[in-house]
Amino acid sequence: MTRKQLKNLRRAQQGELDAVLMYNALADTVTDPADAETFRKLAAEEGRHGSVFFRYTEQIVKPRRTKAVLLPFLYRVLGRKITYRLIAKGEYDAARVYEHLIPAFPEVESIRADEQRHGDTVKALLARHVPVKKRIVRAIILTTGLLALAGCVYFTLSHRRHSRR
Ligand SMILES: [Fe+2]
Repeated sequence: MTRKQLKNLRRAQQGELDAVLMYNALADTVTDPADAETFRKLAAEEGRHGSVFFRYTEQIVKPRRTKAVLLPFLYRVLGRKITYRLIAKGEYDAARVYEHLIPAFPEVESIRADEQRHGDTVKALLARHVPVKKRIVRAIILTTGLLALAGCVYFTLSHRRHSRR
């Protein structure tokens, strides 16, 4: 094994361990129980991937919490759709990076296929129907916001007219 190969494998191992923390943190954060269950399963698979890379590197890598903090934050601020799209993109990117490792490390092929499937799985969560109750709440929030904005605009315009007199 070359130094560069070892470095790439260690980076892959790091990514897998980080993903375990990320998916578990997301499972603790998301409101949809089905999403949470999916993320727990993905976390377990990423853990298995980590152990495959460990067999190659024979080095212990410490997981980093960055994504486990960032993604739940994005979920809260930007919402489910954008966050899940980002996660799916991350999985597809990982699959592409792993392609280069497969010739020298054939076990990576099944991991690559898993990452591709993970991307599809996370994307598929978005295709699921959003409960009617949630849609109504969202519509009320949006309407209230628009009314408040219209009120502000109206107040500003009428105030301006008054002060001109
Ligand atoms: Fe993985």
